Amino acid sequence: MIAAKFVSSILIKSTAVKLAVSLALFASVAGAKTGDLPFEDYLRKQEDVSVRKLLANISPRDGAAGAVIASPSRQDPDYYFHWVRDAGLVMDPVVTMYSQARGADKQRLGKILSDYAGFSRQLQQTPTLTGLGEPKFHVDGRAFNGPWGRPQNDGPALRALSLTRWAKQLLRENQRPYVTSKLYKAEIPAKTVIKADLEYVAHHWRERGFDLWEEVSGRHFYTRAMQRAALEEGSDLARALGDGAAAGFYLAQAREIRRAMDDHWDARRGRIVQTLDRDGGAEYKESGLDVATVLAAIHGGWEDGPFSALDERVLATAGQLEAAFHREYPINRRGLPATAIGRYPEDRYYGGNPWVLTIAAYAELNYRLATTLAKRPPAALSPRQVDYLRSAIGSRPELAGVFPKSGRMQLARGSAAHGAIVKGLKERGDEFLRRIRVHSHPDGSLDEQIRRDNGYMTSARDLTWSYASFLTAVWSRPSP
Ligand code: NOJ
Ligand code: NOJ
Repeated sequence: MIAAKFVSSILIKSTAVKLAVSLALFASVAGAKTGDLPFEDYLRKQEDVSVRKLLANISPRDGAAGAVIASPSRQDPDYYFHWVRDAGLVMDPVVTMYSQARGADKQRLGKILSDYAGFSRQLQQTPTLTGLGEPKFHVDGRAFNGPWGRPQNDGPALRALSLTRWAKQLLRENQRPYVTSKLYKAEIPAKTVIKADLEYVAHHWRERGFDLWEEVSGRHFYTRAMQRAALEEGSDLARALGDGAAAGFYLAQAREIRRAMDDHWDARRGRIVQTLDRDGGAEYKESGLDVATVLAAIHGGWEDGPFSALDERVLATAGQLEAAFHREYPINRRGLPATAIGRYPEDRYYGGNPWVLTIAAYAELNYRLATTLAKRPPAALSPRQVDYLRSAIGSRPELAGVFPKSGRMQLARGSAAHGAIVKGLKERGDEFLRRIRVHSHPDGSLDEQIRRDNGYMTSARDLTWSYASFLTAVWSRPSP
């Protein structure tokens, strides 16, 4: 049995009071400065800036309604495209906001989501070089037929995930007719966006493709995690809409993917490796370490259980990655908060730098771990879990002597140690957001990357995914 449950609904509840999003949602960002605010005020300000800048990159003037530009940057690098992956990840926080919003804000967010659903359906029907795994499109919906790493099969899964979460919210709001006409209709061949993606994922997940970084062809942990999540959550939706046979099929595939994910555990090196069966693309990723495995834990829709933030394999991998990035980047030896995190240690793209979205992912990892340990602490922590905690928070005075040098550790619920671990993890998460703050532009703008040598932002400006990653991180921050 997969114990993991649909995480978003829980996040939504716990963030109900925290969303700083208000009627000013669509106002301009000019004049916002985050420089000298106390940390909690900074978080609210950066949340606000992130919401506005994220929304500003949707439905560009010269593009289709519902298209999401990866960044406004049109050269060096040219990110003025609709990437299926980025768009899916960006729509997830839009769904969260939609679920929280009222009145005119809710209407506008609903319009954005229905435009996105309509545009996505159009793209599914557009002839391309590869079909549904096509990674990116021009913003007016034309196919992009230039050379590229394709297919990229995390895209349809991420698109299905965001739209499924939205569909579930619409069902709670008694909007079933819209859901069954536009999003998920129980018919084959599929004519609705979610159904078409789920069919594609369920029938093609065994095939190789390019990874989320668009560089390596093979079978990827991140892609599999997203495929599993899409099929599991899609299976719930199918069942709710009376498509029982499909629901059973999707769930059975999700379970097979879940088993295949175990193959990525490299017991000898004590890490989850991102790619198996590589048959093309970059060949210099010797360590197998890739932050995509951590992204899988936070995007994968599981609260606890296998491959969640609590899974000792995820934590062991996260710990090794952090140590590698600490060694790799000169900017990590200047006494700044936490560690600047990149994609993978051997990265060469733009010089191989830390990225905003990967630093935000470490904030989210630590926050989620704090929440899970607070709510459902295991009776004992495994040696690998203890190792992670010792390296992440073991140097705090209140935790002195708490972690054994080796072996398991009993965790008494409600004990002083339990409380200190939860608090320490939240503060550790905060340090990663403080680190983003150090490098961000004064008005809270976030580019894609942070230069490894001098800490200045670089590559694509206003990367939409950077803002999405800040939002999902700050919304997973435990309260109080
Ligand atoms: C563009 C891709 O999006 C990026 O991930 C990759 O590193 C570079 N091309 C270099 O291949
Ligand atoms: C490069 C990243 O590697 C890839 O994941 C992303 O989809 C594109 N940039 C667009 O943001």
